[in-house]
Amino acid sequence: MKKEIPAIYAYKLLNHGPVVLLTSVDKKGNPNVMSLAWITVVNSEPPLVSVAVGDQAYSQKSISDTGEFVINIPSVNNLKNIIYCGTHSFRGADKFNHAGWSKIKSRKIAVPKIKECCANIECRVVKKIRFSDVVLFVAKMLYAEVEKDLWGKCFDANKAGTLHHLGDGFFFKSGKKFKA
Ligand SMILES: Cc1cc2nc3c(=O)[nH]c(=O)nc-3n(C[C@H](O)[C@H](O)[C@H](O)COP(=O)(O)O)c2cc1C
Repeated sequence: MKKEIPAIYAYKLLNHGPVVLLTSVDKKGNPNVMSLAWITVVNSEPPLVSVAVGDQAYSQKSISDTGEFVINIPSVNNLKNIIYCGTHSFRGADKFNHAGWSKIKSRKIAVPKIKECCANIECRVVKKIRFSDVVLFVAKMLYAEVEKDLWGKCFDANKAGTLHHLGDGFFFKSGKKFKA
């Protein structure tokens, strides 16, 4: 037996990809970090990803201005700082410093990445589409790196302890992998 849910809540059935930390720089060169759950792969070759960034986020303007961002994959151990970066805006908070994250230089773009995250993907925007109060950025993944002990035939998301957001402040941690 299934229950109808309002279409505006349908996203909660799909919401739970890994929560990431998106880093960007604004026109003045200020680095910033925001938490982001609405992310999806678009293609493998060429490697494309999309992120949905709302008008409330200062990062939206920074990404529009520079056309660049980094996707950093944090672990559940960073939960407190992930919540902080998702509930405070650059407009009033230096989130990089608050969280104590170390910035490392990217290879292909000017946006710094977070050293403490187990994986980082450098991205350049190829298309930008506005829907209501959200901008969907489709971007090419230019350079990716991951901790050596988390990469075998696939990403060891369980060992990495990736975090998944169910909406409304509910999360779960990645589980045991298996081969079908
Ligand atoms: C777990 C979590 C996931 C989030 N996912 C998104 C998202 O996918 N898109 C978005 O626009 N905001 C998302 N947010 C909210 C932004 O992170 C928040 O608006 C942040 O303050 C933006 O920072 P900025 O203004 O410095 O860019 C999320 C927040 C949390 C806590």
